[in-house]
Amino acid sequence: MTSNTTEIEAIVEGLSGPQKEISPKYFYDERGSRLFDDITELPEYYLTNTELGIMRDNIAEVVDLVGKQASLIEFGSGSSLKTRILLEHLSELAAYVPVDISEEHLHASAQKIRDRFPHVDVLPVVADFTQAFALPKPMVMPVRNVVYFPGSTIGNFEYDAAMELLRVMHHEAGDGGALLIGVDLQKDTRVIEDAYNDSAGVTAEFNLNVLQHLNRDYAADFDVDEYTHSANYDEDKGRVVITLVSQADQTFRVGNTEFSIASGETILTEYSHKYTLEGFSAMAEATGFTVEKVWTDAKQLFSVQFLSRT
Ligand code: SAH
Ligand code: AVI
Repeated sequence: MTSNTTEIEAIVEGLSGPQKEISPKYFYDERGSRLFDDITELPEYYLTNTELGIMRDNIAEVVDLVGKQASLIEFGSGSSLKTRILLEHLSELAAYVPVDISEEHLHASAQKIRDRFPHVDVLPVVADFTQAFALPKPMVMPVRNVVYFPGSTIGNFEYDAAMELLRVMHHEAGDGGALLIGVDLQKDTRVIEDAYNDSAGVTAEFNLNVLQHLNRDYAADFDVDEYTHSANYDEDKGRVVITLVSQADQTFRVGNTEFSIASGETILTEYSHKYTLEGFSAMAEATGFTVEKVWTDAKQLFSVQFLSRT
């Protein structure tokens, strides 16, 4: 993504409150997308393997619910890893529309999907899915839209924003459409904190990369070595709080605005909400979905849910 004044203004605004904040969407430049892929392979990051296992164990039922001639629209598709399981089993698909903000990574992943599944009409869209964007027209008229939102990326949004995103997906699904979504569940604090504080330090690199991305593309000048990664689970709020901690009293600039940050002060880069099945189902139903099916793993670490439009 190239820099632009409106985005710099939004970043400056996020850094101007009492709690400095940077939106997690800025994790994902090309390096950030690669680092996220590395995270998914970490032994501590249970989310990806658990979700893949749930998909493999229940694929016949999932395919049945998606139905024939659907257009599969994936929000935040990344490397389309989990999608491969679906594409291997959905023999009749009208189109696959991966939507992602990380442009180079999206195009490279879309090409890999085309190479592996030459019969699928792959129509990538570079967009910020929190803003309105146009869907491409597939060659074959789809019978229905199924929005796919794996990985528990919904958890990176605070309640109001998550509800808004569910409403957007409800709208994109259209009449007769559905949402297939991965939702991480509340569990033992240690298991969650280990997943966000891996021993190889990949999550720390991923978090710090946001500063490098802003330096390169958004006219910032953070001294990246003067910040450290922190991730703690707030059990009461059911969310991991991920921050960068300033190691010195220092200043930084974004565009023409200069900021001071004290030693020990934090920049909030991400929340990762963990849900109860009841809590998420209340959110889904309040945004016009009916929870048709919930699959979980034996330890109830993670869930994959099929929501239809009411
Ligand atoms: N769905 C994949 C990747 C999850 S990582 C999986 O389950 O493994 C989150 C993905 O969402 C990244 O690829 C990131 O680039 C994308 N993303 C994050 N915020 C976004 C936004 N606001 N608009 C579009 N894509 C976004
Ligand atoms: C993309 N998202 C669901 C990841 C998560 O687990 O919240 C992002 C991430 N942040 C640190 N590790 C992974």
